[in-house]
Amino acid sequence: MKKHKVAVIKGDGIGPEIVDEAIKVLDAVCTDEEFELSYDDYLMGGCAYDLKGEPLPIETIEGCKKADAILFGAIGGEKWDGLKRHLRPESGLLKLRSELGVFANLRPVKVFDELVDASTLKPEVLKGVDLLVVRELTGGIYFGSPREKLEDRAYNTMVYSKDEIKRIAKVAFESALKRRKEVCSVDKANVLEVSQLWRDTVEEVAKDYPEVSLSHMYVDNCAMQLVRNPKQFDVILTGNIFGDILSDEASMISGSIGLLPSASIGGSVGLFEPIHGSAPDISGQGIANPIATILSASMMLRYALGEERAANRIESAVAKVLKDGYRTKDLSSYGAKEVCSTTEIGSIIADAVTKI
Ligand code: IPM
Ligand code: MG
Repeated sequence: MKKHKVAVIKGDGIGPEIVDEAIKVLDAVCTDEEFELSYDDYLMGGCAYDLKGEPLPIETIEGCKKADAILFGAIGGEKWDGLKRHLRPESGLLKLRSELGVFANLRPVKVFDELVDASTLKPEVLKGVDLLVVRELTGGIYFGSPREKLEDRAYNTMVYSKDEIKRIAKVAFESALKRRKEVCSVDKANVLEVSQLWRDTVEEVAKDYPEVSLSHMYVDNCAMQLVRNPKQFDVILTGNIFGDILSDEASMISGSIGLLPSASIGGSVGLFEPIHGSAPDISGQGIANPIATILSASMMLRYALGEERAANRIESAVAKVLKDGYRTKDLSSYGAKEVCSTTEIGSIIADAVTKI
């Protein structure tokens, strides 16, 4: 029996609630598969600051590096907003991504037919949307130096090397090969030098992928096109900050930010997390939607652990449960047969997974 070691970071706010449901579903899927999972908990974020005085304790970095994959919930909250930047929960996450070298962040956006009314956008615009945002995750303005906040002036640096652009572009082209074979690279090349280099480099990489068609789009136009006609996109390739913004925008296509998973890969160990935050306003109420985390666990099985069949089973179970009309509160107005708590929907998905 294969054994996979999963480092678990529950984090802050709704993090623990949603991760518990993802583990419930993982345990359910394992019962009919040829592998076992073991879980080790680690602290990161505000809870780590409260207990250890820093958002990313060394034990967490070491434990994560020794694992086969990392399942992560969410971090942050108003309580820690006043801290110096290096002590804030978000700094812990950014440092972990950087330490692991997970430069490629995959954020798939698929519209479930049953939820096509849940978005603020028109159903006909949404039906059939299936796109993937490939976001560069360990470079760009998030990490560039110099950076400084002075009394009356502050600055950051947006920087990309050719190698950084090449490796993320390859991930986008490889992903496109398994999909509709279209990459749209998003930049601001009409204004930024860094984007000009981005565009030239993506063109170079494209030569190795003659089967894939490449287009370029300015980020402002892409933000508009995502709500105008999201079906036009297959793979969106973009840098760190543009990807952060566009993926939150794209999540609304699916109707709830509580539905979108992500995989951060390309480094020593993959990190799997929902794209949403820790939602402190609803934490502890049992109303958080755990589906994004459950789908992140499925991406973990696929991308880090090579358990494709189990990953597919989880995705089918989620689709079935939504089809059957089970909804958490965020989606309760859209075709709900039964409104479920966080733990209830987790159990229903876990049960469905054993029948697939
Ligand atoms: C995300 C988040 C993070 C980011 C924050 C929490 C640092 O918004 O994963 O999209 O900006 O990358
Ligand atoms: Mg974000």
